[in-house]
Amino acid sequence: MEQDLYVLAIESSCDETAAAVVKNGREVLSNVISSQISIHTRYGGVVPEIASRKHMEKINLVIEQALEEANKTLEEIDVIAVTYGPGLVGALLVGVAQAKALAYAAKKTLIGVHHIEGHIAANFIADPQLEPPFLCLVVSGGHTHLVVIKDYGEFEILGKTRDDAAGEAFDKVARAIGLGYPGGPKIDRAAKEGNADAIAFPKAKVSGSPYDFSFSGLKSAVLNYLNHAQMKGEEVNKADLAASFQKAVVDVLVEHTIRGAKEYRCQKIAIAGGVAANSALRAAMEAQCARENLKFYCPDPVLCTDNAAMIGCAGYYEYKKGVRSGWDLNAVPNLKLGER
Ligand code: KG4
Ligand code: ZN
Repeated sequence: MEQDLYVLAIESSCDETAAAVVKNGREVLSNVISSQISIHTRYGGVVPEIASRKHMEKINLVIEQALEEANKTLEEIDVIAVTYGPGLVGALLVGVAQAKALAYAAKKTLIGVHHIEGHIAANFIADPQLEPPFLCLVVSGGHTHLVVIKDYGEFEILGKTRDDAAGEAFDKVARAIGLGYPGGPKIDRAAKEGNADAIAFPKAKVSGSPYDFSFSGLKSAVLNYLNHAQMKGEEVNKADLAASFQKAVVDVLVEHTIRGAKEYRCQKIAIAGGVAANSALRAAMEAQCARENLKFYCPDPVLCTDNAAMIGCAGYYEYKKGVRSGWDLNAVPNLKLGER
């Protein structure tokens, strides 16, 4: 029998300082997340400089707590996995420097992990039976990718956004209608009280690229709608607007994913990233997959938004493939999926 492998994972690419201990890739022994949301809310979005400073303050405590909750000491850990990109450079550097220091001092294997590979891997934690190949829609604050996961750590990108990421569109629209930061969960909540068919917003398609996305036109349509209403002195029903905007995003995401599944003959569909926590997207994707006889996977909302357990899982599979990082590991803010 193979020996158990324990990964201590660290994630600090944006505004969550997170650490986790993961056993054999899929068993989460602890998953500690210290969110900075309440701090950045005051500024209407993430302030990179503040994010880095807050990571510095919290990172030791978060790691200590992750080890404690997992009932493990650093000596009992085999691998230290850390997000090294993409993300905010100053924020990433805090996690990378910490992981390197710990791995060096405790003589552990160091592995740099791609943040989006982590998001996708959250599905392996959610369903222990899931194996590649499968199709995954990755929708976060910075990314919108439709990806075939051919094998562990092996990706074929079918499409991506030409402009705003899906989460970015949620955040910008939420700000425009005065719901504040972070926009996704606030729109999700407001939309539950609204009529999704109240306003017909455009469902942006990219001509000639059936799998690419574009959300900036939709965002402009929402802003135009608001301006018109303001000029005419009309009251805007925020719940209807939130629900109609959300529907326009969700419809496009689901349509593209199902088309991809058919063309690439994928029987298994997964979703990942912060926007995968969206209740309308989860419900629509589940319903459509059931209709098309496709198996649908989605992580719990807490594993959709940024966390370190997903980095521990992805790090485990990178380790299994023989990937090792050196002491020169650095933050790569614009790291592409599938690149090292
Ligand atoms: O994956 P994530 O935590 O960080 C990045 O890697 O970007 O994603 C954050 C994004 C934000 O844009 C946030 O508004 C969005 O995910 N988000 C949601 C929901 N929860 C978070 N969007 C829609 N509905 C939600 N429930
Ligand atoms: Zn993320």
